Amino acid sequence: VKNEPILGFKEGSQERKELLQALQNLHGKTEEIPCVVGDEQVWTKDIRYQLSPCNHSHKVAKFCYADKELINKAILASVAARREWDLKPVQDRAQILFKAADVISGPRRAEVLAKTMIGQAKTVIQAEIDAAAELIDFFRFNAKHAIELQSQQPIDAPGSTNTMLYRGLEGFVAAVAPFNFTAIGGNLAGTPALMGNVVLWKPSDTAMSASYAVYKILRECGLPPNIIQFLPADGPVFGDAVTASEHLAGINFTGSVPTFKRLWKQVGENLDKYKNFPRIAGECGGKNFHFVHKSADVQSVVMGTIRSAFEYGGQKCSACSRMYVPDSLWPQIKQELLSVHKQMKVGDVSKEYLFWGKITFVSLQSFGRIKKWLDYAKSSPNLKIVAGGNCDDQKGYFVEPTIIETKDPQDNIMKEEIFGPVLTVYVYPEENYKTVLSLIDSTSPYALTGAVFAQDKNVIEEAAKVLRNAAGNYYVNDKSTGSIVAQQPFGGARASGTNDKPGGPHYVLRWTSPQVVKETHVPLTEWKYSYMT
Ligand SMILES: *[C@@H]1O[C@H](CO)[C@@H](O)[C@H](O)[C@H]1NC(C)=O
Ligand SMILES: *[C@@H]1O[C@H](CO)[C@@H](O)[C@H](O)[C@H]1NC(C)=O
Ligand SMILES: *[C@@H]1O[C@H](CO)[C@@H](O)[C@H](O)[C@H]1NC(C)=O
Repeated sequence: VKNEPILGFKEGSQERKELLQALQNLHGKTEEIPCVVGDEQVWTKDIRYQLSPCNHSHKVAKFCYADKELINKAILASVAARREWDLKPVQDRAQILFKAADVISGPRRAEVLAKTMIGQAKTVIQAEIDAAAELIDFFRFNAKHAIELQSQQPIDAPGSTNTMLYRGLEGFVAAVAPFNFTAIGGNLAGTPALMGNVVLWKPSDTAMSASYAVYKILRECGLPPNIIQFLPADGPVFGDAVTASEHLAGINFTGSVPTFKRLWKQVGENLDKYKNFPRIAGECGGKNFHFVHKSADVQSVVMGTIRSAFEYGGQKCSACSRMYVPDSLWPQIKQELLSVHKQMKVGDVSKEYLFWGKITFVSLQSFGRIKKWLDYAKSSPNLKIVAGGNCDDQKGYFVEPTIIETKDPQDNIMKEEIFGPVLTVYVYPEENYKTVLSLIDSTSPYALTGAVFAQDKNVIEEAAKVLRNAAGNYYVNDKSTGSIVAQQPFGGARASGTNDKPGGPHYVLRWTSPQVVKETHVPLTEWKYSYMT
């Protein structure tokens, strides 16, 4: 298994032609997306729409929210299907993911990309690394890891053999997906299913169209009914229903800290109901840093920071949002950041800017929050906006890539997750870098990703020690974002989550409940021990 190559979409290429056609097919269209329980498509009365974030008047999808009754029905249908699914050889289940990966890599690539672009406002390259490359990698590598896991077996002693059976969890897994990655939605539901679990998948309202495409592909590739139930729903309604069920066996969550804590507490309150202790996995964002030492290579600092802070409008958990720069380098770094900033375009991803430059865009939910941060930056005496700072919600949700300088390294803007294209810089006296390293470690409750830019080997070593707990994904002379499945398994601790590292070989274990079988081949003929005779 190798990482899926990322296509170039150059003028005249086949993939570009197919993508333009797929975008054309979606133009002005509204897809109807039901809840799916078993083989049954269900429409409730609670109708919702997914709007194109770049053009509010385009309804990308019409869907409906599952109510409590439907969610409970889905739970029972899943649990009834579980036993047979879990008894299937893992190789058979893995074939479904291998096949789905091939289908997304080939005939359905353009469709899944176009739906991610229009629905989640990704540029072509952002869609390609997510909905194609990462999703395909998740499917292929997790399937490979699941098969390889079978060979991790206990040792035997003379006269007996020991076997580890990697069973699925007894009950169902609830998967709550975020809007920002089509790949995460697919993996969130796909991996537990691979391991023999049944899954209730609540896709994000703002990623409905791409999520449904992935669900349908899994079904077309052989996933039986009732293994993954497709359940768009109101967050709290879904959370309440799944945590109230005695069959809850696991929750996999991606989203905000308060929502994750709420779910965890509900599980705690219902603990007496459950047949098992539910597994809880969550990823909740970050406040990722770039630390620049005076020995750093300025160009890689500038290019890495631009990509990390502004790609996909900073709506990635790994986006850089605080940067620490020595006073000796700041004038040069600032000038180069500003010169790139001038060239960045903000606009509709499916239109004129499609194949070049960078588009900064922010979704519906985040727009209001980010606007508040921009207003705050304008009024705070600590903060100075160096570039950008404007936003507009007339036609779509657009926010300019924004660079802010802060006098106070402890300002809230250096602590809280913003989840938008806002980078704050603290300029420090170059000789104080040791203090700054400790400052980075202690400023924010998050510990997801971070990067150190330095040529001086001693500084690199020193920083690695001080920042050992400050990031689950740590980069040296590289941007804080862009992890690749199987190369940089992903996740962070502290408030960033449970750090289960999807994309790595241990991850699949999280969704199993192993059974160890000892079989003895020599009959026992005596009850006394030798010292007794
Ligand atoms: C926005 O969407 C509407 C409805 O689909 C469409 O008529 C209009 O042309 C779109 N506007 C732009 C600028 O794409
Ligand atoms: C759990 O969520 C993470 C993202 O937070 C995702 O990458 C992972 O695949 C999910 N787990 C499963 C079992 O799908
Ligand atoms: C995706 O967005 C959610 C917020 O909805 C955030 O908590 C999470 O960290 C993001 N994940 C990634 C991989 O960017």
